[in-house]
Amino acid sequence: MKVVSVVGARPQFVKLAPVHAELSKVADHLIIHTGQHYDRLMSDSFFADLGIPSPTTNLEVGSATHAAQTGRIMETIEPELSRMKPDWVLVYGDTNSTIAAALTAVKLNLRVAHLEAGLRSFNRMMPEEHNRVLTDHASDLCLAPTATAVKNLEREGLGHRTHLVGDVMVDVLHQTMSKLEIRVKRSDRTISPSYLATIHRQENTDSSERLGQILEALNSLSRRVTLLTHPRLSAKMESFSLVQSNYGQIDFIDPLPYLELVTALASAPGLVTDSGGLQKEAFLLHVPTVTLRTETEWVETIELGWNALAEAHAAKIEDFLHLAADNAVEGFPYGHGDSASRVTQVLFEQANR
Ligand code: UD1
Repeated sequence: MKVVSVVGARPQFVKLAPVHAELSKVADHLIIHTGQHYDRLMSDSFFADLGIPSPTTNLEVGSATHAAQTGRIMETIEPELSRMKPDWVLVYGDTNSTIAAALTAVKLNLRVAHLEAGLRSFNRMMPEEHNRVLTDHASDLCLAPTATAVKNLEREGLGHRTHLVGDVMVDVLHQTMSKLEIRVKRSDRTISPSYLATIHRQENTDSSERLGQILEALNSLSRRVTLLTHPRLSAKMESFSLVQSNYGQIDFIDPLPYLELVTALASAPGLVTDSGGLQKEAFLLHVPTVTLRTETEWVETIELGWNALAEAHAAKIEDFLHLAADNAVEGFPYGHGDSASRVTQVLFEQANR
């Protein structure tokens, strides 16, 4: 069996690592990097740290508007996929790289499997929501991480193409925790003085008012905040003349490579974020989290009490981070770390159908 994984943005490299480790044992696994993310800290460091081989091909599309980026990926990936002729094109998550690859593949009559299928925010203002819905409907196989995702797919008439496989991010996080000897129980870990924060989503960074409110809220928390600055955040702060030195309680640092990120998160007293992946990683590490959004696709983190949606308001953020540390309960909605082998099994079973 030949599988081509298409990745392009940071969270996809994390998901690719356990999938490559399993798939390459039994199948011919090729990797296409679209080049959507290209900075070393957003891309190469993940391949090196997570033991992923260099991509077979890098399309080097770079940054552009949504339509231009998606279009460039489609145009450049078409000849590659035609040449490779895989049994499966495997796409990940909800980025422009995901939808571009899925759409190109189905038009070439290649079979598409979507990993992390069925997530919904029901917020049509998010570019990722369109990418997810359209990719699921184009795909031959929807690989769902949670029971909630399965229900969403069934409601949209896609139940017959759906398989529950768990979340591959659990696989990679468990492997990393054991490699770095990070204690599973939070009470056995040394907790650092500063909260950890990340902000990168379009809806939080594209207006100077919204971004200013978020920075003010972070700057007014009771502890210092280490803010990992995604390139979009730095670019937007500069364009809105929001100057780092005006936020004396915030330490602005570069995005972290994966192993350092896991280390920092494991020791954080709390996380404030708008990232999807980090909400889950914090949940798995039992780190209380406030998500600066109006909804989340990872509803289980909220149901179990580890995560809350909040306005950019310091007192509300702080209240929840304290509350969660006392009241949250344990649960395993994302599986137990064997998701990549289940993905491999389903791809084999379905390849000849
Ligand atoms: C993309 C995904 C988002 C995911 C995120 C993870 C889409 C629609 N969004 O958002 O779902 O959560 O990746 O990070 O696909 N830039 C650089 N260097 C890089 C990459 C980006 O400087 O290596 C800058 C560019 O100015 C670019 C901006 O960041 O315009 C945004 O990058 P882009 O890939 O378009 O979207 P993300 O915000 O990263």
